[in-house]
Amino acid sequence: MSALEKEVLEELKSSETSVKPDYELFDENTQAIVFNYQTKAIQRMLDFDYACRRKTPSVAAIVYASRPGYHKCFWGSEEIMIPIYRTTKEAAEKHKKADVFINFASFRSSYESSMEALEQPTIRTVAIIAEGIPERKARKLVSAAARMDKCVIGPATVGGIKAGKFKIGNTAGSIENIIDTRLYVPGCVGFVSKSGGMSNELYNTISMACRIDGEQRDDLAYPALNEGIAVGGDSFPGSTLCDHLLRMEKNPDIKFLVALGEVGGDGEYKICEAIKSGEISKPVVMWVMGTCSTLFPGEVQFGHAGARADGEEETAHAKNQALKEAGAIVPNSFDDLGDVIKGVYKDLAAKKVIQPVEIPKAKVVPIDISDAQKQGLIRKPTNFVSTISDDRGEELSYNGVPISRVVSDGFGIGGTLGLLWFKRELPKFASDFLELILVLTADHGPAVSGAHNTIVAARAGKDLVSAVASGMLTIGPRFGGAIDGASQHFKHAVDNNMSPEEFIVDMKKKGIPIPGIGHRVKSLSNPDKRVELLKDYALTHFGSAKYIKFAMEVEQLTTKKKGNLILNVDGAIGTSFIDMLQAAESFDDEEIQKFVELGFLNGLFLVGRCMGMVGHFMDQGNLSQSLYRHPWDDITYMSDSSGPG
Ligand code: ACO
Ligand code: LMR
Repeated sequence: MSALEKEVLEELKSSETSVKPDYELFDENTQAIVFNYQTKAIQRMLDFDYACRRKTPSVAAIVYASRPGYHKCFWGSEEIMIPIYRTTKEAAEKHKKADVFINFASFRSSYESSMEALEQPTIRTVAIIAEGIPERKARKLVSAAARMDKCVIGPATVGGIKAGKFKIGNTAGSIENIIDTRLYVPGCVGFVSKSGGMSNELYNTISMACRIDGEQRDDLAYPALNEGIAVGGDSFPGSTLCDHLLRMEKNPDIKFLVALGEVGGDGEYKICEAIKSGEISKPVVMWVMGTCSTLFPGEVQFGHAGARADGEEETAHAKNQALKEAGAIVPNSFDDLGDVIKGVYKDLAAKKVIQPVEIPKAKVVPIDISDAQKQGLIRKPTNFVSTISDDRGEELSYNGVPISRVVSDGFGIGGTLGLLWFKRELPKFASDFLELILVLTADHGPAVSGAHNTIVAARAGKDLVSAVASGMLTIGPRFGGAIDGASQHFKHAVDNNMSPEEFIVDMKKKGIPIPGIGHRVKSLSNPDKRVELLKDYALTHFGSAKYIKFAMEVEQLTTKKKGNLILNVDGAIGTSFIDMLQAAESFDDEEIQKFVELGFLNGLFLVGRCMGMVGHFMDQGNLSQSLYRHPWDDITYMSDSSGPG
């Protein structure tokens, strides 16, 4: 450490060092305001409350500026709502009984939010979780808290716990750990530590030590932890180990004290003085961690900011020795801590200071479905099934083919449709056919229903999705949506060996216009080039192409009646598609029948025409608004009761 650094630290040491809380920090009615949206920590607090049979949730409010409203969480198996406020002031004013502030802000904003909390008259205890708050700022917080007789726990802390009554955030870990270490029942040990992680270890050690030797019953033990506080690993914690031990000394429910110090700083010497002066009279079991630092050739900085010995006095060895001399019970090593605590239990039990207590069962906290599933405790059928694509691995796959291969092997749009719709790698003639359909159905000018609706919606100021959707919704049995009907009816006729004449008569009897036959503007004299292209492709690539050939024979008859009753685009697609499926040779008859019955072939028109509709939307955006005309002159009004002629 540089001379300047030392000087600055000395200057800081000469001012207020820590707050000395002189009140019981937590009880079974304590409520907290949680700063920041820490949903897991909040749920853990509520699960603890529930296991302890608290009457009210320990989280009264959340402060989260960017999402005011309510947070939904569990109270046992029921759901409850916790209000979320924009500011700490608002939360404190609305929840006057909440006197604990748990600050999950990052180190960047933790100072400001903690100071704001200290300024609220109703907030007494502020726990600061963030690591890395500048020491000067931490000192300012401490001075502010000391002036108002408030308490700061942290920075760089996991918090603390009052067994059976209240816990801060993630203290003591999972609910299973809390139940195992009996933290849901108030006990008799007051515990302080610099380290949050080691606190959990010690809660376990204390809970093992409080079991009665030779006693087979699991529900009878000496009372375990009463309160545990992790003061945090910074050089200037808001409140020190000694501050809390002095507070716990005054609590009649606490019969002995356990503390875990660490290398660096002089806080442990304050404990020595308090023991020697009699301010601490209860037995103190204490170990200072970091004895291994002597094994290193130079100065060692452990994980905590304050865990570095500046001089012999700050080493763990020196502090353990001083504590022993002051009268604390110091084990020979950390490993012996459990035995030493057990020894104190036995001694206090012999003196009747501690009596065995019945340990009630904790209220069972329901387990989250996701956790239960992870542990293999429950199984739940999913509500949705997907067989076409999988996004769980490192790479998205279409029907098991990774998209990198879809790209590198040139599956193209047709091949991709093959994977997603038919779950097959289609032969090239088939995937090229799918692309041909998309190209030919992409648009048919502004007058047809879909384009027309898209244009009207766009001109009325609707956005792309709305305008295109309004166009898409016109696709139906008369426009673009006759592909399925065509494939179904023509397939039925061919499979049942009907002649074209019989088919036409049959459809007429049924009163159904033949899907795929007829067009408003295209006719024998004005043939549809798209249909010609489709026919050519089918006759060239699909072997017998019996379905489209049958449709062409039907067309020969219908056009005799009227020139516009030609085989139209939908009819050509619907019939040649069955030919394509047969030619592809990887679909059996049953499967082809299923595809035809399913009614998804209109999807081809949907996908194709979407391209044109987006174009029509863009086209309107590029045109002047003045081009939009309501079609007054195109409407025949029938409101005149005399009617026409
Ligand atoms: N099957 C049998 N007879 C028909 C068919 C048909 N598909 N379509 C029309 N007719 C008959 C009518 O019954 C009518 O006979 P009539 O004079 O004895 O009363 C005559 O042909 C003319 O009928 P219109 O309804 O005037 O024909 P229009 O030209 O208005 O209709 C339409 C064209 C809507 C396409 C119609 O032929 C039809 O409904 N076809 C079936 C649906 C279809 O295939 N739609 C897709 C079109 S292509 C596309 O959208 C991409
Ligand atoms: C089209 O492809 O949009 C047209 O064939 C449909 C129609 O109604 O003219």
